Order: sequence, then C-alpha cells, then structure tokens
Amino acid sequence: MRFFLVPLFITFVVPLLAAKTRTVYEFPNPTWLENIASMRNGSLLVTVIGRAEVYIVEPFQTPATSRLVASFASSNAVLGITELRPDVFAIAVGSTVPPSSPVPGSFSIHTLDLSTPNRAARISKVADLTTMQGINGIAALNPSMLLLADSWAGNIVRLDMQTRASNITLQDSTLRSNFTAPLPLGVNGLKVPFPGVLYYSNTVLNLLGRVRVDAMTGRALSNFEVFAKGEIVSGPDDFVVERDGRVVLARAFGDTVQRVGMDGKVEILVNGGDVAGATALAFGRGRGNGKLYVCTSGLVGGVPMRGGRVVQIEL
Ligand SMILES: *[C@@H]1O[C@H](CO)[C@@H](O)[C@H](O)[C@H]1NC(C)=O
Ligand SMILES: *[C@@H]1O[C@H](CO)[C@@H](O)[C@H](O)[C@H]1NC(C)=O
Ligand SMILES: *[C@@H]1O[C@H](CO)[C@@H](O)[C@H](O)[C@H]1NC(C)=O
Repeated sequence: MRFFLVPLFITFVVPLLAAKTRTVYEFPNPTWLENIASMRNGSLLVTVIGRAEVYIVEPFQTPATSRLVASFASSNAVLGITELRPDVFAIAVGSTVPPSSPVPGSFSIHTLDLSTPNRAARISKVADLTTMQGINGIAALNPSMLLLADSWAGNIVRLDMQTRASNITLQDSTLRSNFTAPLPLGVNGLKVPFPGVLYYSNTVLNLLGRVRVDAMTGRALSNFEVFAKGEIVSGPDDFVVERDGRVVLARAFGDTVQRVGMDGKVEILVNGGDVAGATALAFGRGRGNGKLYVCTSGLVGGVPMRGGRVVQIEL
C-alpha cells in the first residue's frame, strides 16, 4: 500500500531565504547540545553529549539562564527527548565515544517529571535497553508507548512504558546503518506529529521518510516512503514537522537549517553563523508560541569551536 503519492527524489533548491536568527543562550565550550524540547510554559530542555546532562533554559529571562535538571554519573550522554504527558519527558541516556559512536548496550530510558512547579525534577529509570546498540532520537507514539531509533542497528524499537517490554517494531532498508561509511548512523531523528504517522531521518543514507503506523503498537501500516534524499539533505540530524506536514531539518554537518516539502522543494532557511553545528529543533510553546528554536553542538567541521547554543529562528 502506498502512503502518499509524491514525486520521489525530484529534489530542488530555492534561493536562500536568510531567516533572521538570535542566540538565546550559549553554554561554555565544550558543550554539545544534542536535542531540545519545549515545556508547556515556554522554558526549554536541552540534552548534552559528552556529559550525561539535561538543562532547563529560560529564554524569557534577561539575560536567558540555564540550570542543570538531571545528570547521570555512569553515562556520558543524553540523546533523544520527547514529551509523554504534560511536562513529563522521556530521555535516552547512555554512553558514546567521540565523535559520534554509541557504546552498544549502554543505553537506558528514564522519565523526567517537571509537572510540579517549583519542585525538583523527579527522575526514574524505566528500562535498561541492553540489547540495543545506540539509541538516538525517541518519540512518544502515545503516552504509554515509546519509539526508539537505534542508529547503530538501523531499526526502530518500541518500549511499552507500563510493562517495560521492548521489541524491534520497524525494520526497513531506509532505516539501515552503513558501517562502510565513516559515520555509520542510520535512522536518527523520530517524530510523531500526527497520530499514527512517524517521520524519520537517516543520517548515513541522506534521506527523510515517513510511514503510517498503528497508533497503539507502532506496527507499520504502509510502505516506508522517502520524500527527500541525496546531497541536498545530506547528513540529516533531527527535525520538526510543521502543521502542513513540511519538515524543518537540522543538518549538523551541512551547518544549515532547511525546510523540506513533500514535493521535494528544499528551502535553506539559515546557513552557518549562529546555527553552525545545528542538531535539533523545537517549536516554542506557552510564551514561546510561534517561535522556532534550534540547538547546536558547538562543533564546526567536527571540532568543538564554541559552546552549544540555543538559537531562535525568525521565520
Ligand atoms: C516552567 O516550569 C519549570 C518547572 O516547574 C520551571 O522551572 C520554569 O521556571 C518555568 N518557566 C517559566 C517561564 O515559568
Ligand atoms: C517482545 O519482547 C518481549 C520481552 O521483552 C518478549 O517476551 C516477546 O516475545 C517479544 N515479542 C516479539 C514479537 O518479539
Ligand atoms: C555504504 O557506504 C559506502 C561508503 O561510503 C558506499 O560506497 C555504499 O554505497 C553505501 N551503501 C549504501 C547502501 O548506501
């Protein structure tokens, strides 16, 4: 069954739109910000690779501030983050070897509960995923089922938050890793922007795809449909999906933020400068409604040149 009727790979670029950017907050060097999520009140959560930490960034204070909300002593990275219930987030914790190799078997999923104002975050471990190789992006399929991208194994695992059972649920050639390539990372970013619709990026295969899935189990209900592929989206990292289904993508090595339509149209929104080393994006919420934030690794050409930043993009 086909999912969407789209002309595949007729990718074309339109001229640079040069959206305005503003650095909201810059962490000390080195701080590799890997992922970002908005809280309901407009504060931002960012995850860090290199130290297993999560920070809250307050973009509406002048100047903006950050505060550590979670850290994990026996790991050195927090990667994916996704909201399960209002202000209760799931995070992927584990260890990586620089620059981007996960330590197979080192990953676990924790919840980070920030739903009680003025109380310290409550952190609890949900499961050790010892059979997984490298969890990267994660997305809540529903409040009790998480989808986990295993970038090293090149598949997607579901984790039942109640029973804590995990199973490989999605396998496809468009999710695969490639160990012949210098950076083997397969499926990377995951988003479920509409019930039962999963979008994904694959870093080593240079593609963006989507698939219709069962909203309870995550089982595939359509073909895996690639809607952008090739040089113009090469090395895709994480992304957000707009209401109309278009993707705004961070390309960590392309140093760009770009919008990708289902018709293959690619608009470069920002190139270099503030967004060099862009890793992930989040729409603002609460006071941040209508804003778009991107976080960066601080790496320029793979070298930590400055601290990771949270940058606002004016669309
Ligand atoms: C949002 O809630 C968190 C957790 O209670 C709190 O630390 C943060 O300061 C709040 N942000 C705003 C803008 O009120
Ligand atoms: C799913 O995982 C559970 C335990 O983690 C296991 O008992 C079950 O057999 C698995 N199911 C499939 C279809 O792999
Ligand atoms: C894997 O990477 C190698 C080296 O870059 C490349 O030659 C090969 O075509 C890739 N395989 C796939 C399936 O993309």
